[in-house]
Amino acid sequence: MLSTQIIRNMSTANRLSQIKKLVVIGGGQMGSGIAQVSAVVGNEVIIVDQNEELLAKSRSTIEKSLQRVAAKKYKDEPEKGKTFVQESMSQIQTNTDAETAVQNADLVVEAIVENLKIKQDLFKSLDAVAPANTIFASNTSSLPIRDIASSTKREDRFGGVHFFNPVPMMKLVEVIKAPNTSQETFDALFTWSKSLGKTAVSCKDTPGFLVNRLLVPYTAEAVRLYERGHGSIKDIDIAMKLGAGYPMGPFELTDYVGLDTCKFILDGWREAMPDNPLFDGSPLMDKLVSEGKLGVKSGEGFYKYNNKGQKM
Ligand code: 3HC
Repeated sequence: MLSTQIIRNMSTANRLSQIKKLVVIGGGQMGSGIAQVSAVVGNEVIIVDQNEELLAKSRSTIEKSLQRVAAKKYKDEPEKGKTFVQESMSQIQTNTDAETAVQNADLVVEAIVENLKIKQDLFKSLDAVAPANTIFASNTSSLPIRDIASSTKREDRFGGVHFFNPVPMMKLVEVIKAPNTSQETFDALFTWSKSLGKTAVSCKDTPGFLVNRLLVPYTAEAVRLYERGHGSIKDIDIAMKLGAGYPMGPFELTDYVGLDTCKFILDGWREAMPDNPLFDGSPLMDKLVSEGKLGVKSGEGFYKYNNKGQKM
């Protein structure tokens, strides 16, 4: 039986959104987070990834995160917290076959590797099998939605939903209207994002949308500031936390997001806009990434981390 809390979450969500059946392609950090927040409001969710091991890891990430949420939400009612976790988990299924998973989907959100060709190939194959009314969306952090959508025959039913890490905690979703996204599709994505308890903002299909367009050059400039010898990594982080009220300093944030992800975004923009100094690279980032020091996920980036992801 569903708990009162889940029913309340569901009825609020249903009033706000017609999207109830969600398929998330990619069970990494972002995909798992998107699946989690959708399951909590009663969406039927299927997570797709390449193999059972990755899917098991995704389920385990979600369960741990739900337990953190429950510990706070049901502080004095541990039994209710347990029910909340169990029922949210029961909304989530997994599948290694994307084409089977999308058969009944209202919405497919892709959160896979930031590679245009791989994303295009994925959506091209799903376009052939998904119902005509299924909306497609990408959680890309840097690629143009229009370029991904062009691989399908449903560009009007294709948009962007950009979430932030950690998805259960970050309150924003950027909803992106590409040139061919219909108003109806944009409205459905906007309403669905709000049904997850998030605040949605409307974005044009421009590089980095709003947040990353500001955040990525800012973190890159922090690295260049350090390279110029103007401050230590620790001091720059302290300065931005205490002087600007940011929850993390730029180096902590880059470690958290992943050095490879940040470098990839910057490299892509520099290639497209070589004259813009905001997108200049940095020898230190190149070196760390080439050494596999990618941040929290690899145990070392600008800082070192233990196996719980805590700074050492
Ligand atoms: N699931 C559930 N709860 C979580 C969580 C998760 N994954 N991560 C953190 N929390 C909860 C904790 O349980 C804790 O709850 P409490 O306050 O009741 O104890 C609370 O969040 C705070 O966590 P911590 O005490 O562990 O640590 P912090 O106070 O430093 O908060 C943070 C962690 C929320 C990540 C905060 O540091 C923060 O907001 N950092 C900035 C993150 C940010 O800028 N994200 C955007 C990155 S850009 C991006 O994602 C775009 C992409 O395209 C690159």
